[in-house]
Amino acid sequence: MAQVAASEAGIPRLHTVHNSVYLDPALFAAEQVRIFGRVWNLVCHECEIPQPGAYVARTVAGEPMIVTRDPDGRLHAFYNTCRHRGSLIATEERGQCKAFLCPYHNWNYALDGRLVGVPGIESFDGLGFRKEDYGLVEARVDTVYGLIFVCQSDDAPPLAEFIGAEMISWLHQPLAQGEFELILHRRIEVRANWKMNAENARDGYHVPNLHPSLKKMSAPRPYHILGVHALQELDLFEETVDPGIWLGMQECPLPGLGPKDGYVAVLFPDSFVITRSNFVEIETQTQLGPELSIVEDRVLGRKGDPDSVKQIRLRSWEIWVGDIVALQDIPQLELQQRGVQSRHVPVSLIARQGASPDGPRLGQANRGDDERLRQFWQHWRELMGLPQNASWTAELP
Ligand code: FES
Ligand SMILES: [Fe+2]
Repeated sequence: MAQVAASEAGIPRLHTVHNSVYLDPALFAAEQVRIFGRVWNLVCHECEIPQPGAYVARTVAGEPMIVTRDPDGRLHAFYNTCRHRGSLIATEERGQCKAFLCPYHNWNYALDGRLVGVPGIESFDGLGFRKEDYGLVEARVDTVYGLIFVCQSDDAPPLAEFIGAEMISWLHQPLAQGEFELILHRRIEVRANWKMNAENARDGYHVPNLHPSLKKMSAPRPYHILGVHALQELDLFEETVDPGIWLGMQECPLPGLGPKDGYVAVLFPDSFVITRSNFVEIETQTQLGPELSIVEDRVLGRKGDPDSVKQIRLRSWEIWVGDIVALQDIPQLELQQRGVQSRHVPVSLIARQGASPDGPRLGQANRGDDERLRQFWQHWRELMGLPQNASWTAELP
């Protein structure tokens, strides 16, 4: 019987993953604090909250948060927790309001977070209660070319440092060019651990097998390891693309992009920005539990596009990303989640090497080795304070 500890099979330990990392509730709880609580998390794009009072409510690092814009146009990231008795304040995932009204006892917060209304405030007389001490609690918020990130840690470096100059220069095309508009928002419940999706975006090995249409339409191009993030360049075989789709890609490219241009920017820990010539897709995850995540896809076009152009962009997105993610990647992640339930097969491999013996490997004909997966796990270990890609709770320092 093959009772295989990976090290016994000759694979270096750091080229393996202990499958309990996808299952263990204690480890999941630690990740919320040690990873998501410490880094900049991509929440949405500025065009989703274009005017004062527009908001997006998301769970970040296990905590309910609101990202909104005040009357001066400034962005805020508030904890979505009433200072009175802790109720959620914004109860919808997105919306538009003049102020944040708590549904429980109707405390009223201005869009800049100040507590401005307390029904029956005289009952606090003599207790030293001051409204100015009970505004919404705020986290850090910053943007890169319209991408809105929040950070719950005061110790984290500035956002620009976390994303890094080279990744920012990639995102410049097309996100720094002109104004964007949300043309589609999709939310999918995924019965898989968030790391499986993060790894999948770094895994070139599955592409020819799981995505035969991409194998046909898109040539392998170099990938780049950019600090804790990674970027996959995409190519395109025009003769294999549906003529209508190809025409659309040439007719309404986003500024700064040629018809064949495209990339997948993989942002640590769990978000992606994917471009093709005529759309941008932003994918974020919310981790609801060790075996349940929400994947949100947003498709952006140019502000003011006529409906006909929006349709062209959406059709292109469906072919290149939308259907691929929903019909191929996500079902596969759910199969992986079911498979790792086995206690008798405790370890999986991230051991593939590229042809190049050292350094970041560029331009692999096999669409990449597992270098980006090992890079992901290396940073995961650093933040978790763990020596292995392991989930033995006893090892948590
Ligand atoms: S809990 Fe919000 S007003 Fe009481
Ligand atoms: Fe995929």
